[in-house]
Amino acid sequence: MAGPAAQEPLKTQQKCIAIFALICCFAVLVVLIFSSVDIWGDEEDSITEENCSRDCSIVLVENIPDDLILPLEGGPHLALSVGFHTLLDEAKLSVEVVSPVWALNPWDLETTPSAAKQGQLLFQRLLGLKSRGVKLKIASGLINSAELKTLAAHNAEVHFVNMTAFTSGGLHSSFWIVDRRHIYIGSADMDWRSLSKRKELGVVVYNCSCLALDLHRVFSFYWQLHERDYIPSIWSRRVTALYGRHDALELRLNASEAAAYVSTSPELFCAKDRTKDVDAIAEVIQSAKTFVFISVTDYLPLLITSYKGTSVTRYWSPIDEMIREAVVLKGVRVRLLISFWKKTHPLTFNFVASLKSLCIELQNCSLEVKCFRHKEQEDDIQHGLNHNKYMVTDNAAYIGNHDWVGSDFASNTGVGLVVKMKNSLQDRGVLEHFKAAFERDWRSRYAKSLQGHKDSQGKHRNMHRGIINLQTKEENDPLSL
Ligand SMILES: *[C@@H]1O[C@H](CO)[C@@H](O)[C@H](O)[C@H]1NC(C)=O
Ligand SMILES: *[C@@H]1O[C@H](CO)[C@@H](O)[C@H](O)[C@H]1NC(C)=O
Ligand SMILES: *[C@@H]1O[C@H](CO)[C@@H](O)[C@H](O)[C@H]1NC(C)=O
Ligand SMILES: *[C@@H]1O[C@H](CO)[C@@H](O)[C@H](O)[C@H]1NC(C)=O
Ligand SMILES: *[C@@H]1O[C@H](CO)[C@@H](O)[C@H](O)[C@H]1NC(C)=O
Repeated sequence: MAGPAAQEPLKTQQKCIAIFALICCFAVLVVLIFSSVDIWGDEEDSITEENCSRDCSIVLVENIPDDLILPLEGGPHLALSVGFHTLLDEAKLSVEVVSPVWALNPWDLETTPSAAKQGQLLFQRLLGLKSRGVKLKIASGLINSAELKTLAAHNAEVHFVNMTAFTSGGLHSSFWIVDRRHIYIGSADMDWRSLSKRKELGVVVYNCSCLALDLHRVFSFYWQLHERDYIPSIWSRRVTALYGRHDALELRLNASEAAAYVSTSPELFCAKDRTKDVDAIAEVIQSAKTFVFISVTDYLPLLITSYKGTSVTRYWSPIDEMIREAVVLKGVRVRLLISFWKKTHPLTFNFVASLKSLCIELQNCSLEVKCFRHKEQEDDIQHGLNHNKYMVTDNAAYIGNHDWVGSDFASNTGVGLVVKMKNSLQDRGVLEHFKAAFERDWRSRYAKSLQGHKDSQGKHRNMHRGIINLQTKEENDPLSL
């Protein structure tokens, strides 16, 4: 119907529509960008990378179960519970906590009250933060935790990270940040067993706002995943790593010159510039000149994933390769202390035997493996379980949240702290403390070299029944495992 004269306004109308659509798209884009960038401010934000503190002090904190008799020369280090209480004493503004479990109050009332006391005390102190005007922030992957509900009812802010939506793993990170000045990283969880029955090791770093700022960025990452089921492709700059493998933070730890950075896993959870846990471990092993001492509960180079309801197991080589290279090609002495407990995967023994066999007929090659075992691990109390997860070398230490199991690094979140000493020949600082703790455990009556049966059939059968001969005497025959 419209003649040539009516076509002009029609074109203008179309242009208008196009421009309007463009503006709409732009607006949507802006909204999308800002939904992944949070704009919040805290009192602690006044400390920045430019004026944060690098003059820090570091303390090893340990929980040693009462009835574990360990040689004295490896300690005593600060008790873990004392470390936590000191951190809470220092808190003036905020306490941020990530923990895979929240079980400070024992579920089982038959547990001896004295064993549960420390956990309950810590829980009470966390509840009491409110009355001192200290904010408590918790990021957690737990949906139905009674303790988190109680804490939330007492003014704790709890953010839920739905790990099912990301990797099907767990939020297994375990760390604290206090006032963005002091931090804790280690093997202990917010679990009453961590403060009594299990053997744990961690570090508390005081007056170290530079490191705390960086760890806070990991916390912010979790914090922002609250009620999301995807990782935004555009992230706030507030979660970009400040330091890493290639640009570690230069700092002083108890007046010793050092460098440090925080690493994380899994890869999906590594924000821009963040070093992966596995790369951090690689750096520490590769820079070792004379020794690498490793203490982890489980060592298993396997990746067990579930695909369409069936479980698929694959060999996961990165750490195994690094150890082989260090031992065989560089002549670095490696000691691996693992735990023998209820959940030890039977193939563990095959993999460590394979590592040990590398040194056959090689000079200057030393790889030793010992199993730490206290009591039969039949119950869930994990009594005397060596829950440590760290490594110390002649010039660095790595302390993390994961056991050295492929699946853990691939699907569970965790953080690690790398500490390198600048003048490790003259001044090894905190590394001496790590090494002493390791050697104390290594020499203890609970650390036993494995002595399997000569015929592998028998060995296998026995392992499946959970029986293994553990011998206390140091073995010399590399084939005897
Ligand atoms: C650190 O620097 C920021 C700005 O760069 C400033 O606002 C803040 O007050 C400073 N904090 C301290 C403790 O000096
Ligand atoms: C977590 O994410 C999964 C998958 O996206 C979803 O099915 C589930 O409902 C979520 N759970 C919660 C508690 O939001
Ligand atoms: C932290 O620094 C403050 C002064 O800046 C000092 O009073 C305090 O003792 C230090 N804390 C530790 C644990 O070194
Ligand atoms: C083994 O180490 C010793 C001293 O540490 C050295 O003299 C020797 O050459 C080394 N042997 C081999 C085969 O590397
Ligand atoms: C660092 O200093 C603190 C006291 O300020 C001390 O408790 C701790 O043991 C020291 N750490 C090391 C590694 O020397």
